Amino acid sequence: PRTPIIAPSLLSCDFTRIGDEIRAIESEGADWLHVDVMDGHFVPNMTFGPPLVQAMKSVATRPLDVHLMVSNPIAYASNYVDAGAQVLTYHWEAMGSGTVRGAKLANKAFRDAGAPMVGVSINPNTPVEPLEAILDEVDLVLIMSVFPGFGGQRFMEHTLSKTRWLREQGFRGIVEMDGGLNAETLPLCAAAGADAFVAGSAIFGAADRRGTIESFRRAAVE
Ligand code: DX5
Ligand code: ZN
Repeated sequence: PRTPIIAPSLLSCDFTRIGDEIRAIESEGADWLHVDVMDGHFVPNMTFGPPLVQAMKSVATRPLDVHLMVSNPIAYASNYVDAGAQVLTYHWEAMGSGTVRGAKLANKAFRDAGAPMVGVSINPNTPVEPLEAILDEVDLVLIMSVFPGFGGQRFMEHTLSKTRWLREQGFRGIVEMDGGLNAETLPLCAAAGADAFVAGSAIFGAADRRGTIESFRRAAVE
């Protein structure tokens, strides 16, 4: 059994007080800080550029888990590494519309940029099997359980089989699930083999954030 990683998504925090929110959520038990980068092209929403991520890094003590929902991840890799990303994840679909060749280019570019950990993510309607060819090149696979772009959407159960498949292949890296995680759906992710859990609205929208993170951690090891 692996140690679960609880990664609150800053997409759901109060942007008018982002430094205070980071300090608070760390003291309330966050293991990683999940940072959703959107370019208004790969997804129909826009969020954090490198200077803002660098500002987050200046107050954070936990790793920044940067999820790039952008059309040209290679072009921005070194910007986000230099800004302080510990985990840098691109979307499979952004690389040649999802090809092994494209993903291999991204893996190499991210390593060359100095990313401490490299991740690849797939959308809910993207099959996981083609990733078999690159599993030995990544530290993390991020299985999207909603369509990327917005917080607060409903968890899509069919995505659990992708997490199971990764473990059946013997994938030893981190399997992270993102989108619609809450007290009901997080245990399903853990049972399928996930060990990193992103939650935005379920944590930042909770009256008791510390208790919510604690209960998620317990649910992840049960
Ligand atoms: C969606 C993002 C998620 C989002 C999750 O595009 O990748 O990280 O913040 O939000 P919830 O937990 O509210 O579904
Ligand atoms: Zn995300």
